[in-house]
Amino acid sequence: MFKPIITFVGLLLALTATAVEAEPIVIKFSHVVAEDTPKGKGALLFKRLVEERLPGQVTVEVYPNSTLFGDNNELDALNNNEVQLLAPSLAKFEKYTKQVQVFDLPFLFDDLEAVNRFQKRAKGRQLLRSMEQENITGLAYWHNGMKQLSATKPLRMPTDAAGLAFRIQPSGVLESQFAQLGASTRKIPFGEAFGALQNGTVQGAENPWSNIYSKKMHTVQPYITETNHGVLDYMLVSNTRFWFGIPHRIRTELEGIIEEVTYEVNRAAEEANQADRERIRKAGTSEIIELTPEQREAWREAMRPVWKEFEPVIGADIIKAAQTVNRKQRH
Ligand code: SIN
Repeated sequence: MFKPIITFVGLLLALTATAVEAEPIVIKFSHVVAEDTPKGKGALLFKRLVEERLPGQVTVEVYPNSTLFGDNNELDALNNNEVQLLAPSLAKFEKYTKQVQVFDLPFLFDDLEAVNRFQKRAKGRQLLRSMEQENITGLAYWHNGMKQLSATKPLRMPTDAAGLAFRIQPSGVLESQFAQLGASTRKIPFGEAFGALQNGTVQGAENPWSNIYSKKMHTVQPYITETNHGVLDYMLVSNTRFWFGIPHRIRTELEGIIEEVTYEVNRAAEEANQADRERIRKAGTSEIIELTPEQREAWREAMRPVWKEFEPVIGADIIKAAQTVNRKQRH
């Protein structure tokens, strides 16, 4: 006669025990840069906020400096759910979408403010969803900063780069950008870039100040030209199936945290880059070359054919939308 009640109580106890004992969701966040960089700090802030606000429900493991996965395998690892969060540079998605290559076009954005405006507008936001078929969901854009050219010789005019080999990220746009200068390129993972510069496999590279400083590239590159010729930003991405499998309440909380972290990363990135520029200047290992407006215009003109070449694959509408975010309109 008491059997149904006992069964009901038993079920309740079993359910409670399951809830109490439920394993926390583990988010592995792998990246390739040092911790003291905009992305490195963003990953740590995400971990701190998640563990404060979702204790026992979500834990975050951060793996910096390519210690878990590097450029060559991190997106495959994301797809296999061996890692759940990445923030690759926007130049690293070419295999999955051609449209995101818009960010690699040289001299498209005047500054980081312009990049920010594009990322917030409809076309920019649309690109976050452009890889969902590939099981990649874009959650946010994180800034690093504008890229500078470093080399073993002074680069004042575009012709100075002819004959040099540059380390690049795996992007056809970047390959073409250097080809316009008569330079060759090697696609080398970020984790191996310092070694390739040190042993002379390549003589030059392009990176924001924070990446140059944190990976000590300035110690093997005696000249850095402040070109600000392109942007190196990130897309924070997750495995689509994993992300949308997270219970709605927890996912909403995580999305709120990402919004906060994104605000902080993007607020602090430019300042961090300028601080690293100053550290490099003080280290005295590299001459920092500032371009005159005429010299900068010459670089711009030399690299400009890349736009036409990539317009059919990126899309004229996307390039146009990106151009309109600059304060000074050019045609
Ligand atoms: C990064 O900032 O994530 C690396 C960029 C690069 O490969 O140059």
